[in-house]
Amino acid sequence: TEARDTEARAILAQNDRGGYTVPTHGLYPYQWNWDSVFAAIGFAEHDMDRAWTEIETLFSGQWENGMVPHIIFHQVDPSYFPGPDIWRGTGPIPSSGISQPPIAATFVRWLLDLDPTYEPRARTLFPALMASHRWFMTWRNEDGAIVVTHPWETGRDNCPDWDDTFAAIEPEGVDEYYRRDTTHVVEDERPRRWDYDRYLYLVKLGADSGWSEPYLREVTPFRVADPTMTFTLLRATRDLRALAIRLGEPTAELDQWIGDMERGAQRLWNEEAQTYDCVDIRSGKHTGVVSNASFLCWFAGINDDRMLAQFDRIAEATTYFVPSTDPAHPAYEPKRYWRGPVWAMLNVLIAAGLAEAGHSERARNLTEATGRMIAENGFAEYFDPRDGAPAGGRNFTWTAAVWLAWAS
Ligand code: DGY
Repeated sequence: TEARDTEARAILAQNDRGGYTVPTHGLYPYQWNWDSVFAAIGFAEHDMDRAWTEIETLFSGQWENGMVPHIIFHQVDPSYFPGPDIWRGTGPIPSSGISQPPIAATFVRWLLDLDPTYEPRARTLFPALMASHRWFMTWRNEDGAIVVTHPWETGRDNCPDWDDTFAAIEPEGVDEYYRRDTTHVVEDERPRRWDYDRYLYLVKLGADSGWSEPYLREVTPFRVADPTMTFTLLRATRDLRALAIRLGEPTAELDQWIGDMERGAQRLWNEEAQTYDCVDIRSGKHTGVVSNASFLCWFAGINDDRMLAQFDRIAEATTYFVPSTDPAHPAYEPKRYWRGPVWAMLNVLIAAGLAEAGHSERARNLTEATGRMIAENGFAEYFDPRDGAPAGGRNFTWTAAVWLAWAS
């Protein structure tokens, strides 16, 4: 494992573009929101100053309305599509027009636990963190459940949760385009053309509106309440509250948000499928998929023992867990991105939640299995649950960070 340690640090160094890291060279040549936050905890293991810089650079792309974009295009790179000309973001730095799972406040708290002398930098970031949470609670709050306006916003790009909503969208008016992702990764491990047509349709809808949230709330066919966003924002808001107390800041607004989301999370409970899943706000329908995001309930501080049976069933069904889609679901594909593969960084969040809820043996097993998967197969973007075979991009920043911070 010492060789893996060295390799992981080398990956962070290779993917470092000066103040920020790219998820991996070629496939993702820009700064991605939650990838960067994971990168920070990887740097924290050997360079605490660099860890804070990573998050500060991310927030330098924050929009005036508080939104922190999911991609920041610091310098144009033709190896990626869709780039800044398609997105037409309206922030201080060219960017996309959607956000990503808001884990920054949680990681800022973790960084501060590792070294409290960095408190002044947390104090500087605090208002920006507040503004980003306020953006979600203003524009993406459906009775406390947090919605997305694009699958890319959840990070779970092509998971089966979007299939029904996408089937109802006719992607008209999308210009001819040329994908770059499949020049870096084999097609079978990426979303289909059918998905890309709809991804681009939604990007055009947002960009044409100048990324107007009030407009999109009225017109977009894609408004889906999602466990990734609801659970990570609820968790991060609890952490932001802890930071507020530490910094002597008021907590009333945060208390209100936490109460709202605790109620909203229950809207995601699907009684029939016995899981937390997505709800399409337009149709009112649950998506009925047990995904790895379903198991973020504990991370959000929701100690729901009903999810333990689901967890144990799925852990039994695969060699490496947690698969991004339930292997018993008809749409399960063990190598296709978010339709089956295991994602190490999501496992970290699931394991943290399990441990905090007192399910320490499950947490330990998951962390150990994740470490073994990386030790045996390297720093892939994701892994086949059947045998751990590496898939997607290689030399991946967040897989290296998971190794350095938790799994080694
Ligand atoms: C991609 O290009 O596949 C990314 O996931 C978008 O964020």
